Amino acid sequence: MGGPKRRDDPQSAVRKNRQFWEKGSEEYERKHRHVLGGTRAKSWGLWRVLERELQILGEVRNQDVLELGCGAARWSLALEAEGARVVGFDLSRAHLDHARKERARLRSHLPLVQGSADRLPFGGARFDVVFCDWGAMTFCDPYRTVPECARVLRPGGRLVFSTASPVRHLTYDPRSDRQTRTLRHDYFGQHRLEFPDTVDYQLTYGAWVQLFVENGFSIERLHETRPAPGARTPYLSSNDNAWGRRWPLECIWRVRKGAGPHVPKRAHVRKWAR
Ligand SMILES: C[S@@+](CC[C@H](N)C(=O)[O-])C[C@H]1O[C@@H](n2cnc3c(N)ncnc32)[C@H](O)[C@@H]1O
Repeated sequence: MGGPKRRDDPQSAVRKNRQFWEKGSEEYERKHRHVLGGTRAKSWGLWRVLERELQILGEVRNQDVLELGCGAARWSLALEAEGARVVGFDLSRAHLDHARKERARLRSHLPLVQGSADRLPFGGARFDVVFCDWGAMTFCDPYRTVPECARVLRPGGRLVFSTASPVRHLTYDPRSDRQTRTLRHDYFGQHRLEFPDTVDYQLTYGAWVQLFVENGFSIERLHETRPAPGARTPYLSSNDNAWGRRWPLECIWRVRKGAGPHVPKRAHVRKWAR
């Protein structure tokens, strides 16, 4: 069975994703804003699990925080309101326009920066926390983003992000756009996942662990979201909700940069197939 296509041209992925998010931002907001804002601004993933319950990002007061792929910046604005110094960062001008509207509504001066997470326009050791909720860590090559996160984090800083689990793609049927009960794709060799409109990235669990460790991170948590029975989300069909009760569809990583002298190279890219 065919696995993901193996191509290694990260800039073509960034271009394709930028095009998608510029065009798709309005529709994304229309479909999802009701589960993203207000009391759910600080919640995670497809089922919007509250940070208050998970406690995976942790305390941010008086800390420098970067959100990678902030969309309309609801998370960033909520953290700023708690006393963090936050920068919202996103590839898409259209998404950042939504963020500007949210910022104006809340009379905030949150800095918003446009760019791609595989080449961050920030100096080294600038942040205490880098995080995202299905943001750039899903859509950008981890062999580029993880070293970049390590570079901009201070020693002891944390990287926290939600994304698909490495199991999700294995049974995905692109024709129906649904999870199935049949193994359709290889587990080994996961990297660039080419979809009609976007490029996603995924690694095996072993490759994620190796990448974190090589970039000076230690792994503190891997939360595998399991939805409550009957839980619903506008991101998934009821079939995929039921699938997510049985197998891990999404995960949230928390890794911490060591206090040691490890200095990652800028955009240090490794050959991904191993
Ligand atoms: C699924 S949306 C999630 C946005 C936000 N976290 C939310 O929940 O509303 C993914 C976001 O990642 C951004 N993104 C995709 N690729 C990126 C990249 N290479 N660098 C920075 N942001 C990126 C998109 O523009 C989009 O805003």
